[in-house]
Amino acid sequence: MCGIVGYIGNRKAIPVLLSGLSKLEYRGYDSAGVAINENGKLRVEKCKGRLTSLEERLKTENLDGGMGIGHTRWATHGEPNDINSHPHISQSGEIAVVHNGIIENYIQLKEFLVERGYNFKSDTDTEVVAHLVEHYYKGDLLDAVMKVIDEIEGSYALGVLSKDNEDMFVCARKDSPLVIGLGDGENFIASDIPAILEYTRNIYILEDKEVAVMTKDSVKVFNSLGAPVKKEVFKVNWDVEAAEKGGYEHFMMKEMYEEPKVIRDTFSPRIINGELKLDNINITKEEIDNLQKIYIVACGTAYHAGVVGKYIIEKLCKIPVEVDVASEFRYRDPLITDKDLTIIISQSGETLDTLFALREAKNKGSRILSIVNVVGSSIARSSDDVLYTWAGPEIAVASTKAYNTQLTALYLVALDFALKKGTISKEEADNILASLKEIPAGIEEILKDKENIQKFAHRHYNAKSIFFIGRSLDYALSMEGSLKLKEISYIHSEAYAGGELKHGTIALIEKGTLVVCPMTQDSLFDKMVSNIREVKARGAVVLAITQQRHKEELEKTADLVLTIPDVDSLIAPISAVTPLQLFAYYMALEKGCDVDKPRNLAKSVTVE
Ligand code: G6P
Repeated sequence: MCGIVGYIGNRKAIPVLLSGLSKLEYRGYDSAGVAINENGKLRVEKCKGRLTSLEERLKTENLDGGMGIGHTRWATHGEPNDINSHPHISQSGEIAVVHNGIIENYIQLKEFLVERGYNFKSDTDTEVVAHLVEHYYKGDLLDAVMKVIDEIEGSYALGVLSKDNEDMFVCARKDSPLVIGLGDGENFIASDIPAILEYTRNIYILEDKEVAVMTKDSVKVFNSLGAPVKKEVFKVNWDVEAAEKGGYEHFMMKEMYEEPKVIRDTFSPRIINGELKLDNINITKEEIDNLQKIYIVACGTAYHAGVVGKYIIEKLCKIPVEVDVASEFRYRDPLITDKDLTIIISQSGETLDTLFALREAKNKGSRILSIVNVVGSSIARSSDDVLYTWAGPEIAVASTKAYNTQLTALYLVALDFALKKGTISKEEADNILASLKEIPAGIEEILKDKENIQKFAHRHYNAKSIFFIGRSLDYALSMEGSLKLKEISYIHSEAYAGGELKHGTIALIEKGTLVVCPMTQDSLFDKMVSNIREVKARGAVVLAITQQRHKEELEKTADLVLTIPDVDSLIAPISAVTPLQLFAYYMALEKGCDVDKPRNLAKSVTVE
């Protein structure tokens, strides 16, 4: 949530800040702003709306200067308007602050500052930081920021600029991401690497409560006690093009087209001469044998991947699995012990609830295995074992390719554990791996057939409410299909287990209600056909998604059958999700929605 960027060097700061912010808009896009120090004068421009509104405004202002900070906002405290936009300025106008996160004790701090004569202009929690820095500032900006971070509670990534310091600014972080980009005679800060990748591949990843003093020729990092910290340089090995649209109309479509490649990238390096070898997974056979339970914890789409994980791990490894939404898990005092393993799934590796759920499990003695996309992210760094999903940067707010790779990684973990535990034979594992290898080509076929889905969406985009039903792995898939649809098309939709629909929700089915049925589980096929008959008897229009081998039979019952190439039921969710993603995409497109930046959402949820 919210993106921050900062620059110091010989270039003009504004173009660097704007290009950085444009790469961070996925984090929030309800307002944007910049502040620069121009010859000892702070100049601030900010406004409600997308970054383009700020760019328009900046065309008429001549903001010069080689040092500045910028922000793109996802509102938490105070509605999106010009005043609540960042940067926030201190009472005297001499300190400017951009912030990502939530200052949880801002009300107490506000009272403290109001008593001392500070006037607040905005409804934000961030404004307290600006005034508090001013309150403590006695000529040493680092010292003032250190005092402030000692007092504030909650999460923050901060960029702090002052009028007095024309050649340095300060940044800090806790529980919200912040990286430092190291250039030659210039340095950068950003909430995420793509914002600065155009300029440098050399990165410092700030740890919690670290503070850095940024000048154009140096970056000095300190811990919360003020002691200098020696940082290691992290070298980014992917290209800036990976975070560009590359000719596609939307990132979401580009990212769906990348699915075959990233699935291959996730499994190929881990199958060496036919043997499964999971890098960075050090849990031993003995530890796996002694596991009492596995908890899978995640949010959003990653949670839905976890639901698939539960089915397959229980099936292949015979270990009981509980799946939890991270925001529930962290507060429900889970009965987790050192005999349990916690699998954390996160694309960004920075989702706050997921990170805190990880800490909760860790504090209770559980080993942590995470499935993460972003190398060096907070979740990856806090885990005992990490299996990276090599999905590359995912920019569209609605997650697509990351989900396919999360599933791929979960199958690899399940197979690895099952082989070590001896709950499946080598031959069974080989068959599953052989099916996995066919998935990328299968998705290529599905993408070729996308016009069919587009036509169907064209006929149905006015639907008010859509139900997704499925059984077993198809139920897990239904949840993801339903989430995708509501995220980007704003159509109300719900996912139900096929057998559960008649316990209430079928009352909502009437003539013309659209029901989407993923049907990839051979053993439950006939049960689902009965469910389709039940809804059709009440007037529903049914879109079914199944393997090629069931097409003819299903066409007797469903209104439209979309097929995926034949694939084993166990592995089917990895490719069967793609038609659901395409369906959501075209429904949103037909409705004229902003596919990549849906209303009210942000990609990286770094607040509770
Ligand atoms: C947000 C995003 C979702 C994502 C979820 C979890 O809600 O919009 O696409 O699935 O966060 O994010 P994570 O980075 O932890 O996978």
